[in-house]
Order: sequence, then structure tokens, then C-alpha cells
Amino acid sequence: MSMTTTQAMAFETADGDALRALMAGATARRRAQWGDVITYSRKVFVPLTNMCRDTCTYCSFVEHPDSPKANFMTPDQVLATARKGQEQGCKELLFSLGERPELRYDKARAALDRLGYESTNHYLRAMCELVLTQTTLLPHVNAGTLNGAEIDMLRPVSASMGMMLETVSRRLTRKGMPHHACPDKVPTQRLRTLERAGERGVPFTTGLLIGIGETWAERVESLAAINAAHLRHGHIQEVIIQNFQQKPGIVMADHPEPDLNDMLRTLAVARLMLEPEISLQAPPNLSARHMEYLNAGMNDWGGISPVTIDFINPDHEWPEIQTLAASTQTAGCELVERLTIYPRYLRRSDTFLDPSLRTRIAAMSRPDGLAQQQCLETMA
Ligand SMILES: C[S@@+](CC[C@H](N)C(=O)[O-])C[C@H]1O[C@@H](n2cnc3c(N)ncnc32)[C@H](O)[C@@H]1O
Ligand code: SF4
Repeated sequence: MSMTTTQAMAFETADGDALRALMAGATARRRAQWGDVITYSRKVFVPLTNMCRDTCTYCSFVEHPDSPKANFMTPDQVLATARKGQEQGCKELLFSLGERPELRYDKARAALDRLGYESTNHYLRAMCELVLTQTTLLPHVNAGTLNGAEIDMLRPVSASMGMMLETVSRRLTRKGMPHHACPDKVPTQRLRTLERAGERGVPFTTGLLIGIGETWAERVESLAAINAAHLRHGHIQEVIIQNFQQKPGIVMADHPEPDLNDMLRTLAVARLMLEPEISLQAPPNLSARHMEYLNAGMNDWGGISPVTIDFINPDHEWPEIQTLAASTQTAGCELVERLTIYPRYLRRSDTFLDPSLRTRIAAMSRPDGLAQQQCLETMA
């Protein structure tokens, strides 16, 4: 039985023995479904454009088009990064990007015109195709909100897609709040994207950004909304619990980061509220004490790149994969590489994978659907 929202509300300030008991329950649920296998995806990160029509006040990624740092990566740059990743044994290429900058800024429109594309998402599709035809990598698309036509356009050229729900809080869209005047962060728009992905059979990654001013009740409500979408469509392959990071220069530079206990109780409640087959992920590079997450029900470290930095949190280096494997083992678990699409969706590829990608992905996966193993010593 999953934890209800009413039950989850009781854990807002769980500490000490209460937190330990909550985490023990979450660990038991994780082990029953996932055993002691902790997964990660060996990926390369491509920030296709850092321009965006939204202005989330926590965002440490976005650049105003007037900044000399604002850009669209060229096809050659995309390919050069992809090839570096391929040489290092990566299997996933994560496209993460700003949302529809051309609808707000002439400079972004002009940059797209020079590249020859009518929209950022059309350019994204072309770059996914380029990666598929020129490399062995599998694109995963993290482009924020998408309409139905965009999902249809991107599905044949990506093995999975994702968009952080962030929160269902409409309060956080008010003046002075992190999502004020961000059309792509209106909760209804985010929820619609989750729904559209489900209707179209897209294995989907989503999650919560925690510590941006949301209440515990809003966090619980967000988890409930994700789970409800999954119960309708079965497409939520993983949920990321991401902790807000301070960074100089962002509007929220002085906003406190969530502490470890806040992360632990959120992870544990997420594990207990979500359907057990939904993978629970937390980033290993955003907390020095990330190994403690293993005792709160998580089973996935997410994408880790041996090649590129985390462009969203550039001051936080990825751990060495070998080091992470060793510390995961010390914690009694085994680190295993997965593909960007989880095994469950490969088993149902008739519903969840475009026919054009099936043979390619079958050749990259073990019989259990995880990634064919590379020797960590030689690849690290
Ligand atoms: C940079 S955006 C790119 C995709 C798309 N624009 C979107 O927002 O969904 C990817 C994710 O970065 C995360 N992010 C941005 N700033 C962050 C910060 N200061 N700390 C932690 N995560 C952050 C947000 O959760 C966001 O969903
Ligand atoms: S929508 Fe994404 S890229 Fe744009 S400002 Fe918000 S977090 Fe940054």
C-alpha cells in the first residue's frame, strides 16, 4: 500500500527516531522492488541553448540574449561533444535547454534563422537526428513544457524525455516568487506536458525542485500529482528529488538551500507515496552527504558524465564513476549502468518506443534491460 497524502503530511518535521523509522520503511520498499542495485546512466550533457523565455529566479543556467555567454550550440559543437562522450563509453546524450527563447527575444529568433530552423524545438529534433545518425548515443530530451505536436516530433528521435514538474504550487507564480512571469512554469502547463507524454507512450522523467519556497503540503501534492499521472498512463520512469543550489548572480543567491534532513524526509516520503516501480533519483553531486540518500529509498544516481560538467550546477563536479561505485558498494549496494530508457519500457517497447529505435536499443541492452556493461576500470 502506498502512503496517502494525509499520512505524508505528518512527516513535515520528522527528525531523530521518527525520521529513522520513515527512512527504514522507504528502504524496505526500495529493496522489495529494486533489490540492492543502484543505477546510473553514463551520459554526456549538451546545453543546446542557454537562452529561455522564462526567468525562474533560481536558474543558474539561463543567460540573457544580450550576454556574450548566450548561445545556441552549432551542429558541429553538438557532434564534437557527442563524439567525446561516445569515446568515453557514454550511451545517453542529454539535451537540456531553455524554453522557446525565440518567442521573447529577437536575438534568439535571429540565431535560429541563421541555423535555418523555425523554432528551438525543431532545431532540437534535427540535433537528435544528427546524434542518432552520426553516433551510437541515445538522445534524452529535457526541453521543458512541450505541446502534443512537439512530443510527436521528438518521440521518434529520442529514447526518453523529461521535464521536472518542479512543483504544483501556483503560489510560487505570484509576484516576487520564483516562477513569476514564467509561462512554462505554470503548474497546469507542466501537468499537461506530463499528461501528453503519457498519452503518447513516452517513458518520462520528472521530479521536484525542493527548497524554492514551496511548503511541505505543496511538495506532497506535487508527488501525488505525478503518481496520479503515472497511474493513468504508466509512463513515469523516474522521479528526481533535486535540491535547490545557491549560486552567486541568481536572484535567489541568498535563499537557503534545503538541509540534509529535508532531502532525506522528502526522498523517503516520495518512495512511500509513489508506485514502487517508479525509479527514485537524487543527484550525487549536489550534497557532500549524498551517500546517506541510499538509506532513504532512492535507487538511482541519475546521469553522470565522465566528459562534460553539470551545466545546471557548474560548480558541482560529478563524482568519478569508479569512486561512486566503490562508495555504493561500501553502503551494501551495487552500482549498475542503465540506459536512458528503463528496462520496464524496453519490455513494452511496442507502446513506449518508436519502431525506428528498437533494434538499436536492443543491441545496447543486456537481457534484463540494463546497459551492456563496460569495464569501469578501462572506461573511467
Ligand atoms: C536548466 S533547466 C532546463 C530545462 C527546462 N528549461 C526546464 O526548466 O524544465 C533544467 C532544470 O534545472 C534545475 N535547476 C535550475 N536552477 C537550479 C538550481 N539553482 N539548483 C538546482 N536545480 C536547478 C531545474 O529544476 C530545471 O528543471
Ligand atoms: S525554464 Fe529552465 S532554463 Fe528557463 S529559466 Fe527556468 S529553469 Fe532556467
